[in-house]
Amino acid sequence: MTQALLIRGGTVVNTDREFQADVLCADGRIIAVGETAATLAPAGAQTLDATGQYVMPGGIDPHTHMQLPFMGTVTMDDFYTGTAAALAGGTTSIIDFVIPDPQQELMDAWRTWRGWAEKSASDYMFHVAITWWGDSVSRDMGTLVQQEGVNSFKHFMAYKNAIMCDDETLVNSFRRCLELGAMPTVHAENGEMVYLLQQELARKGLTGPEGHPLSRPPVVEGEAANRAIAIADVFGIPIYVVHVSCIEAADAIARARARGQRVYGEVLAGHLLLDDSVYRHPDFATAAAHVMSPPFRPTGHQEHLWRALQSGTLHTTATDHCTFCAAQKAAGRDLFAKIPNGCGGVEERMAVLWHEGVNSGRLTPSEFVTVTSANAARLFNVYPQKGCVAAGADADLVLWDPAATKTISVKTQFSKGDFNIFEGRQVRGLPSHTISRGAVVWANGDLRAVAGAGRYVKRPAFGTQFTAAGKRLEALKPQPVARPA
Ligand code: URP
Ligand code: ZN
Ligand code: ZN
Ligand code: ZN
Repeated sequence: MTQALLIRGGTVVNTDREFQADVLCADGRIIAVGETAATLAPAGAQTLDATGQYVMPGGIDPHTHMQLPFMGTVTMDDFYTGTAAALAGGTTSIIDFVIPDPQQELMDAWRTWRGWAEKSASDYMFHVAITWWGDSVSRDMGTLVQQEGVNSFKHFMAYKNAIMCDDETLVNSFRRCLELGAMPTVHAENGEMVYLLQQELARKGLTGPEGHPLSRPPVVEGEAANRAIAIADVFGIPIYVVHVSCIEAADAIARARARGQRVYGEVLAGHLLLDDSVYRHPDFATAAAHVMSPPFRPTGHQEHLWRALQSGTLHTTATDHCTFCAAQKAAGRDLFAKIPNGCGGVEERMAVLWHEGVNSGRLTPSEFVTVTSANAARLFNVYPQKGCVAAGADADLVLWDPAATKTISVKTQFSKGDFNIFEGRQVRGLPSHTISRGAVVWANGDLRAVAGAGRYVKRPAFGTQFTAAGKRLEALKPQPVARPA
């Protein structure tokens, strides 16, 4: 039993409103919000003074890769260091990815990732990638949904000759997702186009990191987003597009939503803030450190993404936290296509989004909560256990000091990477305290992350989007014409 915790005098922020209230936590849960909180607090409860601060749901990063074996190496951050960094930044849950090798049984990969994640300091969940198709994949998807609390499956439409899933896999998996009430998600890039462009650029002698964005132009992402959305439409299934980076993909989502389709989009903090000039940096290591897919985009795309987030075309913010150090990135010294793809950000997401989003008036504090936790919780069906400050919810909270400032730097980050894509940015608005399942794990610069303290969170299938989709399919069911024999 953890010591009870009373948070006094703060402004609680939920997706629907802000209000002054005390919050009482005990045994990992929120017990009371409001006037009763102080009166119910047991003697000896720990008290935090939140005067002048916001009390918000801890962040949920719905897209991370801790300890990922990828492109011949393994990410720097494992499930402990990565989740500890997350807690330092106010994020209390991650949704990571189990990525089976092609032909590897899903349950085999599942057990491996579950083992690796045991050392997590924050709560964690998993999407499972579908990298090939077969009867055992279909069966294991059922087992994962019905027994293991997985309700989303990921499809990489890029990374040919590795984890890319072709249209045959895509349609079969989407169909199975519909039966299971699980959300299909896609990394939308046309992998065949990327492969061809990579080879063409190399033939022309364009082998440096500046070739990376040229091999994956926005239209390549737009094509894949449109294709995945169209396939989902045929089946009447909701779909979630991860790391939407460009106008073409955001507009694909906007058009589908305008037609009434349930399409959801995620945007990364990096894609909102950085542009593609980073790939032309004269220092190879700096340019290579920014190689991730989809790449950072030319100026103009960022403002479009912000507006898509503000208008509700995009729903969640993530990081795709996937850190490789300079020595690992050097594998692509002679050819950009060999640079391990991935950048960090799990520690900075909340601060840069507050600074660029709330301080600039693009987002209200409630909208900030919506896109940093509540929507991820709703779409992946753990709301209001997560993403909400309310009695009964998990005591995953962040006390947000809107006046605190810092300059982001690799020198002070907890993440194990040796680079920070937000280096040198000054931010105003930071977590003074992070509370994970009722325990104070970050207090004014003191990180108290405990390896293994995080728990795996099961997510039930058939979220609300699915009950509606099921009714719609029934309503539109084709009727045979009755003809005389
Ligand atoms: O470059 C990236 N994003 N690396 C991680 C794998 C992925 O595509 O999400
Ligand atoms: Zn991806
Ligand atoms: Zn990813
Ligand atoms: Zn290294």
